[in-house]
Amino acid sequence: MTFDPNRRNLLRDSIAWGAAGAIAIPLIGRGFAEETKTSDPKEPEVTATEDLMREHGVIRRALLVYYEVIPRLRQKPASVNAAALQQTASLFRNFGEDYHERMLEEQHIFPMMRKHGPEFVRYVDTLTEQHNRGRAITDYVLAVTKSGKVSSVHAGPLANVFESFVLMYENHAAREDTIVFPAWKKNFSNKQLDEISEQFEDIEHKMFGKDGFEEAEKTISAIESALGLDNLAKFTAPAPPKICDGEPGKITCLGNQNSHGWSRKHRFGRF
Ligand SMILES: [Fe+2]
Ligand SMILES: [Fe+2]
Repeated sequence: MTFDPNRRNLLRDSIAWGAAGAIAIPLIGRGFAEETKTSDPKEPEVTATEDLMREHGVIRRALLVYYEVIPRLRQKPASVNAAALQQTASLFRNFGEDYHERMLEEQHIFPMMRKHGPEFVRYVDTLTEQHNRGRAITDYVLAVTKSGKVSSVHAGPLANVFESFVLMYENHAAREDTIVFPAWKKNFSNKQLDEISEQFEDIEHKMFGKDGFEEAEKTISAIESALGLDNLAKFTAPAPPKICDGEPGKITCLGNQNSHGWSRKHRFGRF
């Protein structure tokens, strides 16, 4: 079996290969199913919540594009790649807002969460308000980048908008990943979650006519390349400053003595 980066293909294939256990949908001939099952009997199932969280990954990469451009907007706005920001905002609109938020979360996740009590009602109200604020911000980003450059008038305010938007949405997505999605998931059996995942796939195909996640991932990768943000190693943090303490002759240091950095404690007789 070859690796398929599309999670729904993984789910569909796992169903087809009989790896999903309880769900027996005869999508393919038995001979092929038996052969494939034998070659890789441990194909992992992928759930609807994993799908939502992977979409958050694309959204987070768009947020990181915004974050990275903030210093340049403040210091040298004429050098900002406005076309890349326009593409990022378009991706946020099409994939993040119109699909992930409006069609999945607001149609399928939030209504169920509102039934969990007043605390969750307030929580979902806040999440919905943040969706709406995000849409207004995307309108703004699209407007101030459509000419192909960011004017000096808009550069400072746009930097401020990006700063607050990134902070808002990182909090938003992190809460959804760790509180909302796990609580929502508890309402369903594994079989039901598999069926919901199939529903999500249908929505995705209707909206994009093809695989939305795969296309979105390619789009954000291209934007990152255009902005010189495609090298992951570039973002490895520098080692923290070394801290030493103790009596003369018994100095103990915490710090960057090796590649594991802060996690190791070193003692030196002389320092
Ligand atoms: Fe959301
Ligand atoms: Fe979300």
